[in-house]
Amino acid sequence: MDIDAGTLALWLWLLPMIIKAGVIRNAEEDRCYSYYYGTVLKADCSDLKLTELPDTISYDTQLLDLSNNNFMTFPEGLQNFRRLRNLDFAGNGLSASLPNYMGSWTEINTLNLSNNIYNSWISTGQRYNIRRLDLSKNSISAIDDTAFNDMPFLYYLDLSDNRIQDLPPDIFFATNLETIILTRNTFSAVPKFTSSTLTNLVLSNCQIPYFPADSLTEMNSILEIDLSMNIIEIIPDNLNSNTLQNLDLSYNDISSINVHSFSSLPHLAVLDLRGNQFTDVWSTSYFSSNPFLREVYLKGNRWSCEGFSVNLFLTYEYFTKEPAKVSDVSSLMCYSPENVTHLSWQEAYIRTWHPNQASNMSFTPVSIMIGLVIGVLLTSIVCRCLAKNDSTEPVARPILPVATALNDQPVVEPTVIRIPLREDLPPSYDEALLMPRLNSSFHSLPDFIDIEETDRRYRRSRSIGDLVDQRPRTRDRRSVRRTVEIHVN
Ligand SMILES: *[C@@H]1O[C@H](CO)[C@@H](O)[C@H](O)[C@H]1NC(C)=O
Ligand SMILES: *[C@@H]1O[C@H](CO)[C@@H](O)[C@H](O)[C@H]1NC(C)=O
Repeated sequence: MDIDAGTLALWLWLLPMIIKAGVIRNAEEDRCYSYYYGTVLKADCSDLKLTELPDTISYDTQLLDLSNNNFMTFPEGLQNFRRLRNLDFAGNGLSASLPNYMGSWTEINTLNLSNNIYNSWISTGQRYNIRRLDLSKNSISAIDDTAFNDMPFLYYLDLSDNRIQDLPPDIFFATNLETIILTRNTFSAVPKFTSSTLTNLVLSNCQIPYFPADSLTEMNSILEIDLSMNIIEIIPDNLNSNTLQNLDLSYNDISSINVHSFSSLPHLAVLDLRGNQFTDVWSTSYFSSNPFLREVYLKGNRWSCEGFSVNLFLTYEYFTKEPAKVSDVSSLMCYSPENVTHLSWQEAYIRTWHPNQASNMSFTPVSIMIGLVIGVLLTSIVCRCLAKNDSTEPVARPILPVATALNDQPVVEPTVIRIPLREDLPPSYDEALLMPRLNSSFHSLPDFIDIEETDRRYRRSRSIGDLVDQRPRTRDRRSVRRTVEIHVN
């Protein structure tokens, strides 16, 4: 064989690089280091561009991290690691079915095959003891009907970010799966899986348009279902499950519910309906069959308070009365009509039907302005006095509390009925009559006791709804008139 000068030169030029590459690879293999993680021996060989197993790793290794390498097949020698509990192959180029020898691994808990190039998952007929299997971020479109039946201990399966388009209802029937994650696949309807063990089903972001009423009936243990970020428009009447506790329908296109929507979900406890198309404020009767309901999320809906029906008041109360089901009261605000935008449902109702009472309530913009002007004047007077006493720079700081008070002023105040109180005397009979009857417990009474700390410019008052309410302790407030604030919630 002739080797011409050019080829020879090329080889001579390449040789150092080849040697260098080899050295680098050895160095990388050395960087695959082992250590005890508690009592468990772990070998971390991630991010090393490996295509073969370095032979320096102890066969007693229990956690083997081979993530983000260049494995295209399960490497030679892997079968010697019979004590593995956790095998991480995430971020490689695997597409082959599991080797048979894995069936003899008795301690294998987690197998991570996330971010490989599987396009199908087939049954090998071999039994595996795997408990948690991560197949997310592959391109799986085909799954054998019996694919997971070979894994009797498998309880957690992540199939998110694949190309699954619908799955047969009985595909998990013979498994013991408890959690199945199917986020970012495609389903034409909420699948009606059959399973007696499944508790947690995640179908977020699956372009699901349709939610059949009997979807959940064959999942006898289902506790949580996540259907967020789909395109469901209608919650079916009599959606039926005797076990479901947590229903997430956030970020869909649902515009209404009715008295039948949740009537067949007796154990419903957590309901997430954020980011839908609701406008009409509901009746509390929609939840009359849900005695265990304890958390409701409603942010991102554009509520119309048009009509000013009593539901505004009652449903607001239902959601916010302690223990509050809706903790974020800003999600219970009117979006329309214009004259009540930024008022809570309850406030919109009260102001419309009890305007006299309402005029005593809360801060009007004018009173805020007046309060602010007086406050600024007063603080500047105080400042000047201070400035006289010790001639350091006075101006900017003491005004801060006023500014803070303005910024802290929530857009929607809880309904506050302000009853004037004389400074030194108990209320007169007439005044007492004016005071609202308390329907809350004694503890919800406002705390009248001022914290008499002369240095401080804050007064802390405690009342329902606002835990710590700080406002400037301007003297005018005390000298003119004291008021009692009763928060009606
Ligand atoms: C699998 O690996 C990915 C990427 O490192 C990680 O995000 C995921 O949590 C792992 N899965 C399991 C079940 O540990
Ligand atoms: C808002 O306007 C409606 C008529 O569109 C009226 O019935 C209602 O009393 C108004 N509410 C308030 C608080 O001004």
